[in-house]
Amino acid sequence: MIAGRRKARRLLAAVVSSNTQVRYAATPTHMNDTAPRQRWTYIWLAAIFVLSVYYLYRAINYRYFTPAQQGPDFVAKQFWYYSHLLFALPVLFGAPLQFIAELRQRAPHIHRAVGKAYVIGACVAALTAIYLGGTGQYEGSRLSIVLTGLLWLFFTLAAWRQAVAKNYATHRAFMIRSYTLALVLVWLRLMYDLQDYLFFYVENADLRDATREWASWVLPLLVVEFWISWRPQLGARKRAA
Ligand code: HEM
Repeated sequence: MIAGRRKARRLLAAVVSSNTQVRYAATPTHMNDTAPRQRWTYIWLAAIFVLSVYYLYRAINYRYFTPAQQGPDFVAKQFWYYSHLLFALPVLFGAPLQFIAELRQRAPHIHRAVGKAYVIGACVAALTAIYLGGTGQYEGSRLSIVLTGLLWLFFTLAAWRQAVAKNYATHRAFMIRSYTLALVLVWLRLMYDLQDYLFFYVENADLRDATREWASWVLPLLVVEFWISWRPQLGARKRAA
């Protein structure tokens, strides 16, 4: 009986040790996989950066250099447009840096400083966006913009809280969500340029504007959720089965 128990214990120890070895042996192969993944991250970041510069240029040209596009009232409109742009700039240009793994590893102080500028910038830009969207002239866009602003605020604050708590995987997921919404600047205008293909079935101009406004954040957020939450969960279930 006792001999049987000893044998079982030895067997269990052997299984645990072989599992541990397999896990460690697998680590270098897994780490090698990160190089192509990083390359894809950089390709994505470069493409998004180019699109951001292009659409920002167009948005600034339209709103700040076209007479009559800012409204006559400084307090009601112009102040909000300028604050929104000023605080959104560090978000747009700081965010791509945060996804560069080498920078995070070699200069964590830069990652932290840019992160703080991102959080402050995104929070103020989101609040000003909520005001501008809620008081905007297109009724069909108001709820969509206010919701985007609230979600942007929530994702940003959640990312910050998780960084402070050192929950880095959750921090990363919320940063990706926050940046996806910040890029509404790009998605909205990209969809405007492609609207004859994307929204060809909506003939009424007002309905088309409202559809575009909703699609500009719901679709990118769905793609991102599929990538960062749903796909890994499905993979985990397959591995467990
Ligand atoms: C870093 C990201 C962002 C940048 C650089 C940015 C920049 C700008 C610029 C340059 C404008 C003036 C051009 C225009 O009115 O069409 C603008 C307007 C506006 N933005 Fe943003 N934005 C960003 C993110 C967002 C987000 C996430 C929202 C939604 C919550 C938003 C909501 C608005 C609204 C409502 C207006 C006024 C539109 C109007 O009055 O017709 N922005 N933004």
